[in-house]
Amino acid sequence: MKTQKFRIRGGKRLKGTVKISGAKNAALPLMAASILTEGINNLSNIPRLKDIHTMMALLENLGARSEFEGDRISIDTTNLKSFEAPYELVRTMRASVLVLGPLVARYGRARVSLPGGCAIGARPINLHLMGLQKMGARIRLEGGYIVAEARRLKGTKIYFDIPTVTGTENIMMAATLARGTTVIENAAREPEVVDLAEALIKMGARIEGAGQSIITVHGVDELKGLQHSVIPDRIETATFITACAITAGEITIENAIPEHIDAVVVKLQEAGVRIKRQGNMLKVRGPDRPRPTNVKTMPYPGFPTDMQAQFMALMTIASGTSVITETIFENRFMHVAELRRFGAEITIEGSTATVKGIKRLKGAPVMATDLRASASLVIAALAAEGESIIDRIYHIDRGYESIELKLKALGADIQRFKD
Ligand code: EPU
Repeated sequence: MKTQKFRIRGGKRLKGTVKISGAKNAALPLMAASILTEGINNLSNIPRLKDIHTMMALLENLGARSEFEGDRISIDTTNLKSFEAPYELVRTMRASVLVLGPLVARYGRARVSLPGGCAIGARPINLHLMGLQKMGARIRLEGGYIVAEARRLKGTKIYFDIPTVTGTENIMMAATLARGTTVIENAAREPEVVDLAEALIKMGARIEGAGQSIITVHGVDELKGLQHSVIPDRIETATFITACAITAGEITIENAIPEHIDAVVVKLQEAGVRIKRQGNMLKVRGPDRPRPTNVKTMPYPGFPTDMQAQFMALMTIASGTSVITETIFENRFMHVAELRRFGAEITIEGSTATVKGIKRLKGAPVMATDLRASASLVIAALAAEGESIIDRIYHIDRGYESIELKLKALGADIQRFKD
């Protein structure tokens, strides 16, 4: 199979203005939330991404009708006739599991293919299942599928050992239609969880505490149609700041929510990047050479694991040694071997990478392994001397809308091609 690739000639300073798209990881649970109601749901500021199309296919497979025009999606859930998320879709996108909670809550049953391992770790969904079970769902595994059934879910207290993002979203959605009150303890506090809660509240749900570690949901009998505009993508925002920084560029970022990336901004400033906030805009100026900076990934409001690879790319040319520790996923260093192909000096021991900054990266052919890893390779290639070819960019298309067009508009020398 011929895959699409990027050809990047590095060394151009990024200059100009870039507009951030809607957040993939906020849009996906919002689309799944349409299952909780019967009728028309309207979402705007939706990014044009492969994962969004996969979620549309999943909803259509359940019997929903959806239309995607501009940045708006309408989803008609009037006549759902199936309650299954098939293997073919789940294996291309783990976030498919987000239909589980809404299906059980609304229709009393769901059959969802159990997601396998993935390039960044084993990523079990035991906490999603434990939560639904505590709410009274009967769950069994059948031919690789999770089958969940419940007459009506019951409110209860659920404690997560780990603050899981999609687990919190699944249980929060399920709890909106349960009988009684559900309390989620050690809930994920990510902005995407808050965005979902705000949209559910507009549908008539009774939710308190989203954005804090205890979320309380009082179940209601029914919800009305969803009308919501998705928050800007904080990871895309932080990725563009990092791309600007590595090229010693000077850019303006529009349509961002700066508070959502506080931890990343602090670390980038420590590395010498100048960042000024003006409402929903950010003015960014990269340093001549970044300073070494240590980073440890943490659940929100800590430094996001989804920015670890990109930040590491920046540290490869820092004026000293940085230590980067990954605490969320056990195998999220797949980009290290590829960054070494640019000449980066990185050693790994367990969950810690030690990055010894060098003066200059050199262009090379490299291969993307997952979404954020591929963003880190693009960032490295933008700074590398000479030409780089990045293969398997379908990974990047899952999560960055028109990345090469946005970078080109900022003056990068980047082309998409098929060989
Ligand atoms: N975990 C469990 N059991 C569970 C659920 C999670 O042990 O039942 C563990 C995971 O293995 C991991 C940790 O808990 O070690 C946190 O995982 P989490 O469940 O929070 O991750 P997720 O919900 O599957 C979302 C994002 C990811 C992002 C993580 C962490 C979506 C659709 N995906 O995944 O985004 O990395 O949170 O912030 O929201 C990406 O966009 O590239 C991406 C991978």
